Amino acid sequence: MRIYACADYRAMSRRAASLIAAQVLLKPDCVLGLATGSTPVGLYRQLAEWHQQGDLSFAGVRSVNLDEYLGLAPDHEQSYRRFMQVNLFDHIDIRPEHTHVLNGLAPDPQAECAAYDQLIRELGGVDLQLLGMGHNGHIAFNEPGDDFGLETHVVRLSERTIDANQRFFASRDEVPRQALSMGIKSILHARRILVVVSGADKAEAVRRAFAGPVTDQVPASVLQLHPDVTLVGDEAALSELKEAGGSLCG
Ligand code: F6R
Repeated sequence: MRIYACADYRAMSRRAASLIAAQVLLKPDCVLGLATGSTPVGLYRQLAEWHQQGDLSFAGVRSVNLDEYLGLAPDHEQSYRRFMQVNLFDHIDIRPEHTHVLNGLAPDPQAECAAYDQLIRELGGVDLQLLGMGHNGHIAFNEPGDDFGLETHVVRLSERTIDANQRFFASRDEVPRQALSMGIKSILHARRILVVVSGADKAEAVRRAFAGPVTDQVPASVLQLHPDVTLVGDEAALSELKEAGGSLCG
């Protein structure tokens, strides 16, 4: 695993964006696995900026997103589809039909999940999967205790995740209780994985994920088993990992 320690959120975003840009330059028709949440916002802004400067084209790129709330329409203000439009897709030249986000209103959620796994296979698999990480070590919506052997599936959000996500909704009651999410098995299938973390509040989760045992109690710890993982974080998020002896690239 490669670990990049960056001075702050801005530097972290730039570093992570450069790794994604390199993937796109090397393979213009690559499949990018994308994430939502606060952490990737800065790196998406950086990618959009490089595109607007004429340095980077997404015209051949296909994307698959990790997850979506169950019960939210694609144009709902808090849907992950809308997040992707607002934070990235509307600012780059990716073709709309090349962007894939699970449909939170699918009449048959299980069938939606199975069709998504099939789609990923038809696309040839994910070349580079971007991940954020929850405070409890969740990746996508794979919560502590969830089965590592699952592909895309319907999940029930943990209380901690509902708490963390309520900042985006008018009240806690409005946070959906279920989501559609790629599973750990789907994530591990990606050829390369890029994890972004920021802030002191993630430091404990980062240490537990990357310097602790591989356990389903910390879903991100499974990434230790993947052959090509890059972790990019700011100093605050990496502080406990450093103390635990994690070796950094720069
Ligand atoms: C988002 C996702 C989540 C987030 C995680 C961290 O698609 O799957 O697992 O990556 O909750 O979120 P932030 O970046 O807001 O701390």
